[in-house]
Amino acid sequence: MTKDDIISLPNEKLRQKSEKVNRVDDSILEIIEGMKAATLDWEASRAHEVGVALAAVQVNQLLRIVVVRDNTEDKANHDFHVFINPEITKREGGLIADHEGCLSVPDIYGKVPRYAKVRIKALNADGQEFRLKADGFLARVLQHEIDHTNGIVFIDHIKNKPKSFFRLTDEGQLEPLDYQKYIANNKALWE
Ligand code: NI
Repeated sequence: MTKDDIISLPNEKLRQKSEKVNRVDDSILEIIEGMKAATLDWEASRAHEVGVALAAVQVNQLLRIVVVRDNTEDKANHDFHVFINPEITKREGGLIADHEGCLSVPDIYGKVPRYAKVRIKALNADGQEFRLKADGFLARVLQHEIDHTNGIVFIDHIKNKPKSFFRLTDEGQLEPLDYQKYIANNKALWE
């Protein structure tokens, strides 16, 4: 898969719930490899952004699969963690709002409240269950991706829309978005 396999809003699949994976077989492993390739290909096309993570729905597969980069500080590290049927088993530490983007919402960033810490249960690519405690950026990423498996996109969490969105400039800086102008030109995105 390539970046061209990544779907974006207003594609209605992004608002649908994904199915559980019953068996981690070769077809599932092929989708996982495709997701990694699409994420890295997207990153190669973006000057100032890192391809942090992807959910299978974003490559048009309604399956509960998420891949997350091992090291988001080092673009040369192309390893991923795989989460199949991921579930949040505990949310802790209160809500923190911070900037978030999404490969399926091009160029737009928003401040999204997320729990500071989460505990996750999932299967790995060998079909074995594992548990993980995450905080900070990883906790945010996992909440964002598990939302995707439930048909939720980050903009759905933003209440005060006119004041909460930012766009990435050509220099890689975030600047407040002229929201009224933006929705006039991108109406379908927000419906
Ligand atoms: Ni996303």
